[in-house]
Amino acid sequence: MSDIILKTTDLTKKYHNKAVVDNLNIEIKKGEIFGLLGPNGAGKSTTMNMICSIVKPTAGSIEFLGKDPRKQKKEVIHKLGYIPQELAIHGNLKAWENVELFTSLYGLKGEDLKKAIDDSLEYVGLLERKNEFAKNFSGGMKRRLNIACAIGHKPDLLIFDEPTVGIDPQSRNFILDKIKESNKNGATVIYTSHYMEEVEAICTRIAIMDNGKIIACGTSQELKKLVSKGDEDITLEEVFLTLTGKKLRDYAE
Ligand SMILES: Nc1ncnc2c1ncn2[C@@H]1O[C@H](COP(=O)(O)OP(=O)(O)O)[C@@H](O)[C@H]1O
Ligand SMILES: [Mg+2]
Repeated sequence: MSDIILKTTDLTKKYHNKAVVDNLNIEIKKGEIFGLLGPNGAGKSTTMNMICSIVKPTAGSIEFLGKDPRKQKKEVIHKLGYIPQELAIHGNLKAWENVELFTSLYGLKGEDLKKAIDDSLEYVGLLERKNEFAKNFSGGMKRRLNIACAIGHKPDLLIFDEPTVGIDPQSRNFILDKIKESNKNGATVIYTSHYMEEVEAICTRIAIMDNGKIIACGTSQELKKLVSKGDEDITLEEVFLTLTGKKLRDYAE
């Protein structure tokens, strides 16, 4: 069996006749933490939204576990866990109710559902706070709850879209550690970010995206070799600057 879990072929999304995702060809292998690194506006979220069938591609195709997620949605949806960039939690629901809302969508019921809720909350360190309303949580706790909502059905592929924006360093490190743990436990991960340090710290392979296109793809070492003349120790920031002529850091908030 192929070890490719997800493949996009010439995937394109146009808004007002402008391609914001432009003939994207990526292959994600089972077991990797695949980083999609690019500035704000590069097209990362649009790509993830197309993979999760939230946004309809203008052209091109997606294959997830050998199937077309748009045509065989029911068969693949429960194998996918999407942690969106915009928080998808409800402030007026308690932490456990938020997880229940999403996890029950995947058909879990009764004791299985209860266990999945507790396991997910424990996983993100919020089990003791399960009866508190989400609106009273800190930014980092909300981000963690957002993750709990997407993992209860134990998906094969986890997609994190900028999960660490605007949170404290402790929550950030917690989330990065959890992503590595999920991956060790068998999940394949796509991690999008405009923070090159994070991508470099956790990803096994990285695609650099700019203006809807993949500029380069490989391990961090391979990307650095593309632009360095040999022995110098350069950063991904310098790789991005050399390949695009732009500073990635200018985009960071
Ligand atoms: N629904 C939409 N209508 C029009 N333009 C959009 C829409 N969604 C995204 N865009 C544009 O597409 C580009 C890529 O956006 P996005 O995928 O959110 O990038 P990223 O996640 O890399 O920051 C941006 O220029 C954005 O303004
Ligand atoms: Mg985005």
